[in-house]
Amino acid sequence: MCTSSLLSAQIIELPQPVRTGGKPLMDVLNLRQSARQFDSEKSISNQTLSNLLWAAWGFNREKKRTAPSSMDRQEIDLYAVTKEGVYRYDAAGNKLIPIATGDYRKETGTQPYVGNAPLNIVFVCNKSKINSKGESGLIEATYANSGFISQNIYLFCASEGLSTVIRASIAKEKLAKIMNLTDDQMITLAQTVGYPKK
Ligand SMILES: Cc1cc2nc3c(=O)[nH]c(=O)nc-3n(C[C@H](O)[C@H](O)[C@H](O)COP(=O)(O)O)c2cc1C
Repeated sequence: MCTSSLLSAQIIELPQPVRTGGKPLMDVLNLRQSARQFDSEKSISNQTLSNLLWAAWGFNREKKRTAPSSMDRQEIDLYAVTKEGVYRYDAAGNKLIPIATGDYRKETGTQPYVGNAPLNIVFVCNKSKINSKGESGLIEATYANSGFISQNIYLFCASEGLSTVIRASIAKEKLAKIMNLTDDQMITLAQTVGYPKK
C-alpha cells in the first residue's frame, strides 16, 4: 500500500441501511444465481452499498449480526474494493474506513470480469479472534462463516436485481499486500457485485 495515497482518502459515512422491504424470500431463492457479466459503467450508490453490507454482515440485534458465526467470534471483516479504493466496512459505525486509494478491483481476483464490476468484497478472517487454546476446526469454521455472509449477499443481490458471484480464485498474497493485511489476517473468499451487463 502507498501510505501517501491515503492522504486524500476520507472515511465514508454510509447512509442508514434500509432494513425492511425487498422481494419475498421464496422469489429471491428462485432468482439466486452466480453471474459473471457486469455493466462496467453502472456504479453502486452509497445507499445500496450500505443496504448490501448491512444485509451481508451488519448488526441486527445488540452485538449480533445478520449471519451466524461459530462461537460468536465474529472474526470476519469485509473490505469493499471499488474504483476509488479499498475500504474496511465498520459495521458498528456504518462507515467505510479507507485502507488504500486507487483502483485495485482487478487485483481482487484472477478472472477478467473482476475488474469490470463496480464492487468486489473481500472476506478477511481476523485470526487473533479464533486462535485460542488449540481448539480444532477453527479454519474450517471461518470458511463456513464466510459462506453464510456470502449467501446473504447472494440473496440481497437477487432481491435488488444485482449480479454477483462468490470467488475462491484470488491471488491472496498479492492482494494481502495491497490491503496492508497483517500476519493475523487471512483472506478467505471474495465476492464480485454489480449490475448485469445489458
Ligand atoms: C466456495 C466457492 C468458491 C467459488 N469460486 C469461484 C471462483 O473463483 N470463480 C467463479 O467464477 N465462480 C466461483 N464460484 C461460483 C460457482 O462456480 C457457482 O456457485 C456454481 O457454478 C453454481 O452456480 P450458481 O451459483 O449459479 O448456482 C465459487 C463458489 C463457491 C461456493
